[in-house]
Amino acid sequence: MDSVTRDGDGQLCLGGVALSTVVGDPRAGTPAYVYDLGAIRAEARAMRAAFDGAPHVVAYAVKANSAGAIVRVLREEGCGADVVSGPELALCLEAGVPPDRVVYSGVAKTDAELDLAIGAGILAIQIESAEEIPRVAARARAAARRVHVSFRVNPAVEREALATHAHIATGHDEAKFGIPIDLVGAGLDDVDRHAELALVGIGSHVGSQLVTTEPYVVAARKLFALAREVHARRPLSFVDTGGGFGVDYGAGCEAAPADFIRATRKEQVAAGLGSLALLCEPGRSLVAKHGVLVACILQRKAAHHRRWVMIDAGMNDLMRPALYQARHRIVPLLATQGPLADVTVVGPVCESTDDFGVYALPEDASGAVAILDAGAYGFTMASRYNGRALPAEVFVEGGRVVGSVPRDPPGAWIADRLRS
Ligand code: LLP
Repeated sequence: MDSVTRDGDGQLCLGGVALSTVVGDPRAGTPAYVYDLGAIRAEARAMRAAFDGAPHVVAYAVKANSAGAIVRVLREEGCGADVVSGPELALCLEAGVPPDRVVYSGVAKTDAELDLAIGAGILAIQIESAEEIPRVAARARAAARRVHVSFRVNPAVEREALATHAHIATGHDEAKFGIPIDLVGAGLDDVDRHAELALVGIGSHVGSQLVTTEPYVVAARKLFALAREVHARRPLSFVDTGGGFGVDYGAGCEAAPADFIRATRKEQVAAGLGSLALLCEPGRSLVAKHGVLVACILQRKAAHHRRWVMIDAGMNDLMRPALYQARHRIVPLLATQGPLADVTVVGPVCESTDDFGVYALPEDASGAVAILDAGAYGFTMASRYNGRALPAEVFVEGGRVVGSVPRDPPGAWIADRLRS
């Protein structure tokens, strides 16, 4: 399911569209994210097929990429959504995602956000602490509704066992996320005291970019043991093992999403919970490989033994390298036969961390490059730092461009800042 290919002329293509056509297109401009909707669709189909007909919801973690075109494609493929804010919830509802396939996670929800979720009648508000229970109950009472909730449990998997970057490991006992497993009993008693709350599910999310299934399965086993006890006394309708399926950013990724799903389902059945729906909350694995960030080379610089290539995309457009030391391969849009040189690729932002790393690019490279595997946590984490515009977005499907959103218009940032 590779979205990025080279055509016979050496042109880099995404979803069959030569990316050079995007560069010159005034409807977009660079930097521009380009996404392959067809491949995202196929990714969702493959994921859903891995459940082999068992009851399930693939609740897409919208935080990975909230572009309307992508949310709609995933809705068409029968996915639900995992949201973490009122605006994400409103977006999904507006895009037609059925509320009974939406779960709402987050450690600190406002009353207005809870009211929106309660009014929409979503599948479950995921409760992340004992302290949240009376708050959700109060909003349920105010709305005179019985509200479906689930517990997001923190299964306390060792941070090292998660084998991912510390910033994206969440299922260990120092994280702010989830109800510690030993406090779940007291939480259940509290839910029982509130007639306006109905516990319908138990879930966890232990971390992101997991490249093997082991830590996921360890967490799932703990979760299912707990869910089994709970289910015996208060029938549940689902268990939710969260997101976290890794992708290959160039250093390999042993496990595919289907491996995570099949391994989890096996544990679920072994725990005697086979009749419950199995939820997962994938974000990255649905979209990362099917988006690139196209940028133009603005300038080169050589000083002493160092060589830089400066592009028009910066850390404000793609924050992952600055925040997690992530490596995203960078390749020229047009393959050349000439010699390659190791250069440090940097953006225009006034920060030392505005550095995408060292890549071998053609010595004479001018023109444009693509930063690969940028479909997840790219645009959604972009900012206007340094007065920069938010990047453009272009959508391709079936070998053609089917939509685009231009960059912030020139002057948008200035007008915004002059409002004060
Ligand atoms: N569910 C919950 C409750 C989450 O907190 C997350 C991600 C997901 C699902 C989706 O995880 P995924 O399948 O995408 O791994 N900005 C970081 C990733 C932060 C992930 C936060 N939570 C990055 O660029 O690597």
